[in-house]
Amino acid sequence: MKYNKKVIKLFKKIKNSGNIKKGYLIGTGIVGSPACGDVMKLQIVINKKFIIKKARFKTYGCGSAIASSNYLTKIIIGKTLKQVKKISNIEILKYLKLPKIKIHCSILAEKVLKKTIENLFHKRK
Ligand code: FES
Repeated sequence: MKYNKKVIKLFKKIKNSGNIKKGYLIGTGIVGSPACGDVMKLQIVINKKFIIKKARFKTYGCGSAIASSNYLTKIIIGKTLKQVKKISNIEILKYLKLPKIKIHCSILAEKVLKKTIENLFHKRK
């Protein structure tokens, strides 16, 4: 299987990896794929207007999963939580042109985003 150029670029040029330093209210989500064992972690920080100011990821997995999570952080920074709630794996899938066998990598990115938002709301209560 050959990776699309966008996948390779996002795999090689990782921008938002790692953890967000303490001192913020951080939403954290971790999801795993039972099918392949890959794990994706996402952290976000929002401002008073619910705009995502920071996003970091850590992904243990395939190139498509790493590219999906890297792309996810790029498209959510600067958007409101309301806007990012609408993001589905389809958007990631279309951009990266992932083959059928790698669809679940984009689904993992959608799941981690939802879990991260849930965690943030839970912590804000
Ligand atoms: Fe499982 Fe990519 S092969 S997330």
